[in-house]
Amino acid sequence: MTSPAEDKTARPRRSCLYMPGTNTRAHDKARELACDVLIFDLEDSVAPDAKQAAREQVVARINAGGYGRREIVVRVNHADTPWGDADIAAAARSGAQAILLPKVTTAAEIAAAGKVLDGLGAGTRLWTMMETARGVLDAPAIAAAHPRLELFAMGLEDFAKELHADKRAPRTSMLYALERSVLVARAYGLSVLDGVYPAFSDDEGFAAECAQGAMLGFDGKQLIHPRQVSAANAAFSPAAEAVAEARRIIAAYDDARARGDGVAVLDGRMVEALHVAEARALIAFADAITSD
Ligand code: COA
Ligand code: MG
Repeated sequence: MTSPAEDKTARPRRSCLYMPGTNTRAHDKARELACDVLIFDLEDSVAPDAKQAAREQVVARINAGGYGRREIVVRVNHADTPWGDADIAAAARSGAQAILLPKVTTAAEIAAAGKVLDGLGAGTRLWTMMETARGVLDAPAIAAAHPRLELFAMGLEDFAKELHADKRAPRTSMLYALERSVLVARAYGLSVLDGVYPAFSDDEGFAAECAQGAMLGFDGKQLIHPRQVSAANAAFSPAAEAVAEARRIIAAYDDARARGDGVAVLDGRMVEALHVAEARALIAFADAITSD
């Protein structure tokens, strides 16, 4: 069992917004957005000739701060590119809380990045994209590759391309990878984020995909536009009825314990210690969201 302090999934990560590393306007605007996570991107949204400028820009913005409680993440270029190593070193020094590794195919890539961070003595955690066929197949080994790893982020644009699959709603072709990633993440105590929805003006389609992601068990969604933040927050927050139900479960169990019973009955259903633990976790999560 992990203690709450070590629980890598306890933190709200409902809305995780990407910003191209070169887009200073977005970096400024992000200080006012209600998203849980900001991902400064140095990878696919930055042209090759802008990589170095983007890296400097991102480090400067993170150092300047003003992002409050939002979790700060830098998506770096792959270690096989000319920019990967310098990106990791700069992101680790910037004070970002995590580095997101793209196009991961093997556990060795995670172990290598973890070793670099260990060597730098940085507290930076590791996140990894789940966006290659090999990566999805080897997800359990990747999950266990380094203690700094705490999150899988689905990259369905790259993944669908590699599979020659059509990922349009209801994402039937993606279900195996989505479910496998949630399963492996839970088995190894990691957080897991659903992929981006590129058609950012399609509110209805976005809401449907958020609902599907929440149903599958994802902690939140990766976003590309501020317009997507509030719907993601709503979809990945516990419903008010679920929080009320959790409080009733705890109360029923406390009453039973006071009577010397180890099992309670609520609305004709059995309530045991495990339901109480689940109820407490839900309330703690809801409190973490509302205390923002
Ligand atoms: N983060 C923060 N602010 C953003 C933003 C983002 N990702 N995307 C847009 N905005 C801001 C704009 O700066 C603009 O602000 P303003 O009105 O105060 O000037 C406002 O939101 C409206 O933007 P809009 O004109 O609708 O979008 P756009 O045409 O400028 O940009 C995209 C559209 C898709 C190019 C842009 O949203 C984007 O770059 N998204 C992230 C892409 C990315 O990082 N991809 C990598 C991961 S898949
Ligand atoms: Mg990708």
